[in-house]
Amino acid sequence: MINIREMPCISYNYHQWYKYLKDNDKQRLIIDFSSEPLLNKAERKLIFPSIKAFQIGEHSDGTILLKAVSKFAAQIDEPTYKNVMASFIKEENFHSYYLAQYMNYHKEPLRKSTFLDRIFRKIRQAGGIFLEISVLETAEIIALSYYSALANTAKKLNSAALVSICEQMLNDELRHIVLQSYTISRMKINWFKCLFRKLLMKLTTDAVWIAYHHLLKSGNYSYSHFRKENLGYLNQSMYLSALMQN
Ligand SMILES: [Fe+2]
Ligand SMILES: [Fe+2]
Repeated sequence: MINIREMPCISYNYHQWYKYLKDNDKQRLIIDFSSEPLLNKAERKLIFPSIKAFQIGEHSDGTILLKAVSKFAAQIDEPTYKNVMASFIKEENFHSYYLAQYMNYHKEPLRKSTFLDRIFRKIRQAGGIFLEISVLETAEIIALSYYSALANTAKKLNSAALVSICEQMLNDELRHIVLQSYTISRMKINWFKCLFRKLLMKLTTDAVWIAYHHLLKSGNYSYSHFRKENLGYLNQSMYLSALMQN
């Protein structure tokens, strides 16, 4: 597990986040498929179910999120936050596009939706910026463990293309978690909201483990390692938000 508390971006304000995301947008990943191996049936069965789910999860038009963001930006008098989140949504859609490119290369059909994704979107849409950001951050923390496991599996499959996608995701998602922690630091958080975030993380961890444990295991994760890492990142984020408040 990486110590996100040591990342330089923990001191960024929204103007600096906007600059970071704009700069990142100028250097998008170009996936090199020149040495990509052919995958056999068992390898495809191992990696594609979860890749399909994350490809859907990464994609969003952001309409509902941006509505909540606009309202919150006005509340805290930070108009730049709207630009930050518009750039953030663009970056997430690139994540979805990288995975789609990988599937297209292997002629694997994309899926339209998954049960977990529908649940996540329903919770987020139930109301307000707190739900939007805390559900988003839960997914991003899970993504950190998932893309680490997928990178380990990709190395075993000799897929440099998939390793490069995972490395790009890990780089971006770590920073997104710091960004969401900063936004949460600008909200009023009580013990009930903290409990909600912990409970959501535990439930999501279990649901993702049940659905994709074959991939996680092949990427060197046991259930306890997966759970410990997810809760560990959440604790780091909560600590960061408290630190940023002061
Ligand atoms: Fe992402
Ligand atoms: Fe993200």
